[in-house]
Amino acid sequence: MANVAVIGAQWGDEGKGKVVDWLASRADIVVRFQGGHNAGHTLVVGDQTYKLSLLPSGLVRGKLGIIGNGVVIDPEALLAEIARLESQGVRVPPERLRIAENAALILPMHPAIDRAREAARGALSIGTTGRGIGPAYEDKAARRAIRVADLAEPETLSLKLDELLRHHNTLLAGFGQPTFEKEAVLAGLLALAPRILAYAEPVWQRLDEARRSGRRILFEGAQAVMLDVDHGTYPYVTSSNTVAAMAAAGSGIGPAAIGTVLGIAKAYCTRVGAGPFPSELTDSIGTMLGDRGNEFGTVTGRRRRCGWFDAVLVRQAVKVAGIQGLALTKLDVLDGLSELRICVAYRIGADECRYLPAAPGAQATARPIYESLEGWNGSTRGARSWADLPASAVKYVRRIEELVEAPVTLLSTSPERDDTILVRDPFEG
Ligand code: GDP
Ligand code: IMO
Ligand code: MG
Repeated sequence: MANVAVIGAQWGDEGKGKVVDWLASRADIVVRFQGGHNAGHTLVVGDQTYKLSLLPSGLVRGKLGIIGNGVVIDPEALLAEIARLESQGVRVPPERLRIAENAALILPMHPAIDRAREAARGALSIGTTGRGIGPAYEDKAARRAIRVADLAEPETLSLKLDELLRHHNTLLAGFGQPTFEKEAVLAGLLALAPRILAYAEPVWQRLDEARRSGRRILFEGAQAVMLDVDHGTYPYVTSSNTVAAMAAAGSGIGPAAIGTVLGIAKAYCTRVGAGPFPSELTDSIGTMLGDRGNEFGTVTGRRRRCGWFDAVLVRQAVKVAGIQGLALTKLDVLDGLSELRICVAYRIGADECRYLPAAPGAQATARPIYESLEGWNGSTRGARSWADLPASAVKYVRRIEELVEAPVTLLSTSPERDDTILVRDPFEG
């Protein structure tokens, strides 16, 4: 029986939370392996809506949640999210949530630097979530990060804070921003320490045991392939690898244990923040998709940019991330459109291109070449079987499969948990 890794195949917000929540009924453990509280995963279960940023979506099903070492953790945000989920009736005691002792922390100077840098970039800003994700990953790579386990050693913490503050206060002063006092940061961390440490452990041991005893592990990705720091639309990306391979390094398990790679894609396309978006619609159809799809950032509240399904990008995501099956979400948002378009290639200068090149100039000037398909009159909203789908909707899905070179194994037809059509169980491999 395979494990499953769920990753975004576009620019995020594809419905990973909904899909992970749905698949979690078949899993024993749900693991986050990269990103941080820049993620916003929405789950709709009956009359309850859960918005998760850092916590694995499987917690809502009462499954064991693990936050792997590849995640950057803001301890205050984590405790606030636990409290929020508990106020909605989902208990998150340490028996339910385990956190990698070697995960790096996001500290108060990280969002400060993130925002100062974004402001300084002006028109060239990336549109980050301002939550300190980039600066925290930079500190990790620079070997000065404070990690979860450091919270148990006040002397280590104190020494590391000296180095960290030397670096960040210099930068903040350069940006004309207030600096941080070591004693205040240290006291804040020591006050939080016992509550965070209650969740900490070497999660790789637990995952190894789970793997050997045949328990099913579901890896929950955040962001998406086009936001991957290597494979995405750099520099308009997040600061982690979002591809499925990261599930291994980001949780402490071998690559063979990742199992089936399920890519999530919307039946159209959205993006928050700045950066190239060849199939973007700035007309009334784009506005209509945004309104009907309720396309507002879970984390930022910003309106998401909307456009036609870009098969060139999703095909590229399928290749670089090893996506074996696609979960196509939000098909219902396209209900009633008389014509649908799919981007099948780009015009870049005089050339026709069937992939998105890495050069920023080429990305910015790529113009979509569309194939036109017939829309459908009927409704797909809430459909729970293929038989409920209008013929043109089935045709649209089939064409996407051909173009992206991956089968659609799951279809989602509303935000609600059970409005999902299973074509092939990813846990069956
Ligand atoms: P994630 O970041 O990939 O987990 O996605 P988000 O939760 O940020 O955004 C997806 C949004 O679409 C959420 O508001 C979901 O409730 C909603 N959603 C998910 N699947 C569907 C679907 O099939 N149809 C519709 N209409 N909404 C959906
Ligand atoms: P989920 O998991 C959509 C975007 C930000 C910005 C860029 C860098 O909900 O799909 P960061 O704060 O990570 O340094 O911002 O990445 N971004 C997301 N966009 N969904 C997300 O997560 C995102 N997480 C980051 O808008 O453009
Ligand atoms: Mg989201």
